[in-house]
Amino acid sequence: MPNLFNPLKLGAIELPNRILMAPLTRARAGREGVPNDLMARYYAQRAGAGLIISEATGISREGLGWPDAPGLWNQDQVDGWKKVTAAVHKEGGRIVAQLWHMGRVVHSDLGGGQPVSSSATTAPDFAHTYEGKKPYEEARALTQADIDRILGDYARAARNAIDAGFDGVQIHGANGYLVDQFLRDSANFRNDDYGGSIANRLRFARMVLEAVGGEIGIDRVGIRLSPNILVQGVEDSDPIALYTELAKLLEELKVPWIELREPYKPTASGSIPTAPVSPAMRAHYSGKIVINSDYDWTDARHRIEGGTADAVSIGRLFIANPDLVHRIATNAPLNAGDSKTFYEGGATGYVDYPFLTEQVAA
Ligand SMILES: Cc1cc2nc3c(=O)[nH]c(=O)nc-3n(C[C@H](O)[C@H](O)[C@H](O)COP(=O)(O)O)c2cc1C
Repeated sequence: MPNLFNPLKLGAIELPNRILMAPLTRARAGREGVPNDLMARYYAQRAGAGLIISEATGISREGLGWPDAPGLWNQDQVDGWKKVTAAVHKEGGRIVAQLWHMGRVVHSDLGGGQPVSSSATTAPDFAHTYEGKKPYEEARALTQADIDRILGDYARAARNAIDAGFDGVQIHGANGYLVDQFLRDSANFRNDDYGGSIANRLRFARMVLEAVGGEIGIDRVGIRLSPNILVQGVEDSDPIALYTELAKLLEELKVPWIELREPYKPTASGSIPTAPVSPAMRAHYSGKIVINSDYDWTDARHRIEGGTADAVSIGRLFIANPDLVHRIATNAPLNAGDSKTFYEGGATGYVDYPFLTEQVAA
């Protein structure tokens, strides 16, 4: 029976354990989105993860709507990421870049022009800008020429990720961003080849995976999905049907691993997500499945032993516990995180969470 401390292969990437660090936006890259020494230190501290999935990283100015989040569309950003990947590798870790186009949830204040999406829609709630939160603007529906350009942006970002020393990439197909805005029918109202039927709504994801896989090899590509939650106004009327077809597509394209943000118990606010779809996906997909959201080790182990998952990724606890894998292995107490410093910038709440060894010595 595989457990959390058995090795795992995700395509070309070999993991020494099955506890991954989930992608976590930390907003420390400055206005130009260039990673720096502080970020290298933060990621290197967490190199004990089976695999680090980087914070979401913009593939273009148009696609990046989070203040101080990093990018991967120019040479300065590639050079900045080189510091991060070198520091992680020096500590014996592995890291993939999460490639991000936020679609309609980018505000024009960030310099990318009118936001774009599958359809002309406006996201609910408020956009992040350097001047605080502002109402979302109506997105422009992408033309075929736009889609071709964006596929080029994905391929360039993937190439840049490899040039920057990443072990691979993860397409951000979750959480209501551009890929998700094509996938799910609460945001996609197109009546051309990209909308309507499930096969049509899958087309953009297929093309992104083909563009990125064609550029760097599909054995270095994964995708993140959030099948059973409503995020930023994006959900689907029939998640089981949609994600079963997507599982078949991922099998056909030989995508080696997927990460599912799939809450399975009531959230802190009390809302109960719909049933996990990973068991249905498993029937059609033979790649590796990484599960995420509020997992404790016993539940994660049971899912892995039951065969519906291969690994777990952990978000918030990795912020507060740089040596999380060691703490789990030794059943050690965990540091509590401070959500006020998640996106605040600077070293506090970023690189100053103590390692167990420091606490024992103190
Ligand atoms: C501060 C913060 C930043 C996040 N940034 C990202 C991100 O960049 N990309 C992404 O796909 N999910 C992001 N998420 C979601 C997490 O990856 C993860 O799905 C969520 O925290 C649930 O997992 P957990 O219960 O282990 O924390 C973020 C969550 C938090 C708390």
